[in-house]
Amino acid sequence: MSWDEAFAAHYDEWSADMTEDIPFYVDLALAADGPLVELAVGSGRVAIPVARATGRPVIGLDTSPAMLARARSAGEAAGVTLDLRETDMRDLALAEPAALVYCPYRALLHLPTWADRRQTFERVAASLRPGGRFAWNAFAFDHHVAARLDGEHRDEPVPHSLHYDVPDNRVDIRLDDGGTSSLWWATKNEWLGLLDVAGLALDALYGDFALRPLTSDSREYVFVASRR
Ligand SMILES: C[S@@+](CC[C@H](N)C(=O)[O-])C[C@H]1O[C@@H](n2cnc3c(N)ncnc32)[C@H](O)[C@@H]1O
Repeated sequence: MSWDEAFAAHYDEWSADMTEDIPFYVDLALAADGPLVELAVGSGRVAIPVARATGRPVIGLDTSPAMLARARSAGEAAGVTLDLRETDMRDLALAEPAALVYCPYRALLHLPTWADRRQTFERVAASLRPGGRFAWNAFAFDHHVAARLDGEHRDEPVPHSLHYDVPDNRVDIRLDDGGTSSLWWATKNEWLGLLDVAGLALDALYGDFALRPLTSDSREYVFVASRR
């Protein structure tokens, strides 16, 4: 289980400080001429600003009924159109090819294996129109950070602790009141390999949402790729 429904009740608190990615994804959507798709849409945290800024619907896939229910009510309250589908991102299939597929907040890391990610990247490649883009972000594993955070308890934003499992390249986020969310980290070369096998081309790799270059101090991979 990579995503526990227990997180849905806390999601707004959990994601309250994550705002810097929104202009990045909104700008990509504004530049995209055609259908917009968010993988693992969650509560609509990014999809709603994207739909509002573009004036266009956003197709949002997620496996969590509780998160989709949050997105549905938030989208209605915001007056935007979200086409929400209870679908695993590994099974992405669209009637009309997309101009932009994006996956914020490290959600691709909820896929446990290379095979899961390869399937997803291949589905994305098959779902993009020529010139269509695929953008996502994921944390860059840093052993100093892992050593510091492993086993640490935090009260904010929701009481939880982090547990690293290096043999499985996995970090578990355990809520004090129950529920575990797991993320399987990946290296830059794994991401580039996924683009390669899916036949997608790398457009840009940044080290943050200010679009600074990836350096040894970067903690995030911010990728933009496209179908040629
Ligand atoms: C950290 S939230 C991200 C939500 C949203 N994209 C955002 O940026 O706020 C992770 C989401 O991934 C979803 N998820 C996990 N595995 C998934 C899968 N295989 N297919 C689709 N959604 C998945 C979870 O249900 C959850 O809503």
